[in-house]
Amino acid sequence: MIPKHIAIVMDGNGRWAQRRGHPRVFGHVRGTARVKMIVREAQMLGVEALTLYAFSTENWRRPEHERRVLWSLLKKFLQREIGELARQNIRLRIIGERDRLDDDIREVIQRAEQSLAGMTGMELTFAVSYGARLELMHAARSFAEACIAGQVTPSSMSVAVMEQYLWAREVDLLIRTGGEKRLSNFLLWQSAYAECIFTECCWPDFGPRDLRQAIDEFQGRERRFGGLDAC
Ligand code: IPE
Ligand code: IPE
Ligand code: MG
Repeated sequence: MIPKHIAIVMDGNGRWAQRRGHPRVFGHVRGTARVKMIVREAQMLGVEALTLYAFSTENWRRPEHERRVLWSLLKKFLQREIGELARQNIRLRIIGERDRLDDDIREVIQRAEQSLAGMTGMELTFAVSYGARLELMHAARSFAEACIAGQVTPSSMSVAVMEQYLWAREVDLLIRTGGEKRLSNFLLWQSAYAECIFTECCWPDFGPRDLRQAIDEFQGRERRFGGLDAC
């Protein structure tokens, strides 16, 4: 079975560039080119949802010039690729702290989302200024507010109710490029039973073949969800 939801921590751009004697930001430029390829491949393989970690709440600690390059790459991607995404019938979502972004990026995001609003194919989500802890705190706050407003009671909380307050659905396959073996605050709730693949390959080298290989590995795994039989 093809994983319904694939989430990717696109890591290793800076090291990829530095190893080649380039500034870190060159890795981000090359990494952005990979996004197009992986989106197309995932769509062709019949993946229902693809979530890409583009910028974490912790990445605000990066130097300003690096952040500037990342925003400009995101903007250019959304401006240039919108036609191609529409042609592939791809829906677009952005999750994270939108209000922390500059006005011009917010506008580009809004325009891109609007142009793709009618699409019915794969759901492509960029996690931008995203952190899972932030998402969970947001959910807790919203639920508490609904309780105070008398719309729900605390005892009505369940997995299904919690998921209504979250920004993304359950992850089947989580891939992290760049060699680190951690989640770095990405989709903590949704990855509770995700199959994880950590690859040494840095994001600017990760191609369609690597995605297919990861899916093959996923297909060979036995998912038991705590039971005794594969589901
Ligand atoms: C991932 O690559 C991109 C972002 C975090 C925005 P890095 O920039 O973290 O690259 P490394 O991990 O330092 O090599
Ligand atoms: C995670 O990578 C965030 C993104 C890929 C957007 P980082 O490079 O920021 O993570 P750490 O610092 O190695 O945990
Ligand atoms: Mg990194």
